[in-house]
Amino acid sequence: MVHREDSATTPGSRVATVPEGLAPIISAMTALQPLGSLFGVETWDVDLSRALSADRFAELERAFYEHHVLALRGQEISAAQFVAFARRLGPPQPHVIDQFHHPEDPNILILSNVRENGRPTGLQDAGSYFHTDYSYLAVPARATTLYSRVVPKVGGDTLFADQQAAYDDLPEAMKKRIEPLLGIHHYGNRHDVRDASRTAASALSDEQKARMPVITHRIARPHPVTGRKALYAVSGSSFGIVGMPEDEARDLLDELAAYSTQPKYQLRFRYGVGDVVVWDNAALLHSATLIDPDDARTLWRITVLEESRDAVAADVLAPSFATSHPA
Ligand code: SIN
Repeated sequence: MVHREDSATTPGSRVATVPEGLAPIISAMTALQPLGSLFGVETWDVDLSRALSADRFAELERAFYEHHVLALRGQEISAAQFVAFARRLGPPQPHVIDQFHHPEDPNILILSNVRENGRPTGLQDAGSYFHTDYSYLAVPARATTLYSRVVPKVGGDTLFADQQAAYDDLPEAMKKRIEPLLGIHHYGNRHDVRDASRTAASALSDEQKARMPVITHRIARPHPVTGRKALYAVSGSSFGIVGMPEDEARDLLDELAAYSTQPKYQLRFRYGVGDVVVWDNAALLHSATLIDPDDARTLWRITVLEESRDAVAADVLAPSFATSHPA
């Protein structure tokens, strides 16, 4: 069994363990192992400090779409190498919280609870609630990739919930009911809007709020690449439903969120130092987990966009979150 304390000092030196009872998934060039019994795969066979051939990358991309979470364990890469890998997945979009962009490349957002000279070195407690990345943008995120730099002694895992499996399991009547519905989205966590709370969305300045629109996305949303339907962003940035009274819309979104984040749809991802994990935002919700603020945790994050906005849900309801929610 791998001990996380060991991994904190020796990136790349651990031996992968296959969860008991699960067979390795053998693909042509890369040995992929399941991350659990539901979804997600991992490999120790990829070195992102070296160029990946087109065939090798295509194989990893297929695994990403098939398994939703792809973990490339034990990497030792520079900021430039991390960005070069992410660019192969899609166009990176710098996060609106620009005060924690990496000094070498604004496409990297630093997630960290570490303080230096009394000042934060990164964004702390980001995304500690179920959400999907950039669902508050008209063209949302295809993939997010995290590169784990410092792993806490206790916890610091990311939870994922499979929204395609949850959609598949819905009763037919609910599938019919939600089929025509458009969720209304803007930056934030509808379950906690208190700026000072650790489970609220990270606070924006007025200038940052002014850059955030109010937009719509389908609730039953076909995957832009595979076409498979998922419940989309029913937790997190969804604050209403077009044409539905607010309380009714919130009740429906809350019902769907409670249903689709049940433990039976969840994967818990545990980091070692050097792990690069990539996840499919059109298929999953995810949530960071809160840890002791003094237990150091640092990751670099890059989020890449889908190719285009969804033609069915293209309306920008308000050009700016700030003007529609004046302070
Ligand atoms: C995120 O939501 O991007 C952060 C996930 C994490 O820190 O575990």
